[in-house]
Amino acid sequence: MKIVILGCGGFVGSHLLDRLLKTDEHQIVGWDPDEKKISKHLKNSNFTLHKKYVDDPETQSDLRQAIAWSDVVINLAAICNPAEYNTNPISVIRSNLFDVYPIVQLCVEYKRWLISFSTSEVYGRTLSSYVDGAAYDNPDLYELNEDTTPLIMGPISNQRWTYACAKQMVERLVFAHHKEDGLPFTIVRPLNFFGPRMDYIPQRDGDGIPRVLACFMGALLHRQPMQLVDGGTARRTIVSIYEAVDAICRMLQRPERANGQIFNIGNRANEVTMAELAERMRKTYARITGDASFNDHPIVKVTSERFYGEGYEDCDRRMPDTTKARTLLGWEPNIPLDDVLFDTMTYFHAEYGETAEKEVEPIPGE
Ligand code: UGA
Repeated sequence: MKIVILGCGGFVGSHLLDRLLKTDEHQIVGWDPDEKKISKHLKNSNFTLHKKYVDDPETQSDLRQAIAWSDVVINLAAICNPAEYNTNPISVIRSNLFDVYPIVQLCVEYKRWLISFSTSEVYGRTLSSYVDGAAYDNPDLYELNEDTTPLIMGPISNQRWTYACAKQMVERLVFAHHKEDGLPFTIVRPLNFFGPRMDYIPQRDGDGIPRVLACFMGALLHRQPMQLVDGGTARRTIVSIYEAVDAICRMLQRPERANGQIFNIGNRANEVTMAELAERMRKTYARITGDASFNDHPIVKVTSERFYGEGYEDCDRRMPDTTKARTLLGWEPNIPLDDVLFDTMTYFHAEYGETAEKEVEPIPGE
């Protein structure tokens, strides 16, 4: 297959390349300004990297040519760290909506299949969260179905929703072009993929706040307190990156089934509150390092206002209905959370464990 992957150098893209370039089956042309996570593929003759942002004016004619050549375009390019949504909202809207528009248009022009990476965040908050006492006893009020669940976001002043809103707009745009122009499409709504190479470790190879896995991992590596935002009551379901990539491969193998569909890609069995995640991660790290003191690693509470700044609002729970992925793609994730954490944290420990502890001053918790 001839595949264009935009944002191929990130966490998901790097794992997708690992998998797709295992055989000689595919020719891949990718775009990403950053090649650190994919350096081992740069010499592969089945892979060409354009080391540029997709909106770089200098790359537009190459992009057009590649899309015309391709069988499928996978768009992974995004700013997808919640810490940016309320602090850097204009860039978030620009990169996740306006920069994507020309790509959608090219796919429409050449009638190319677009696999558009969206987010589980388009669901926003659950109906349950608006019921007094946030009752989670009725799945109709909290389960997330791709085709029937309403998408509920908070007020404009809560700028956390800029990302979700931009992504939702792209979904609507893609769907509208499908209806009006016959654009072949698949929308993927990822639910907390975890694995090696996710994000970056703060104060080591990036600044700012990454997603929760890297935040907690950084805290353990640097022997700083793990910080639970607003008490750590938010729930997430966590799926292994390897199984998530397998879902994408199954889409590529079954275009007739994937076309015209939105898929939740997540693991219902791996649901945890963030407080439970912190607990499991410190225990896992004690196992990996053989240092029992990590079993009691400090966990502190912090307000979202202090942690993320003004305008943050959380998704309370993300329990996906994954019936479609199972029935149409034959995909069913089964790697348990403890195994996902062990594998992922072993990677981070091997990469950073030796030096991290010595180098960083502890930050005070609340
Ligand atoms: C993010 C993105 O916005 C989604 O688009 C993406 O699909 C999703 O990650 C994902 O990885 O699939 P979210 O799950 O809210 O969404 O991002 P995280 O930063 O991983 O936060 C998860 C929870 O942990 C939130 O409740 C957050 O407040 C909390 N958190 C985060 C902490 O308690 N402590 C921390 O140090 C960091």
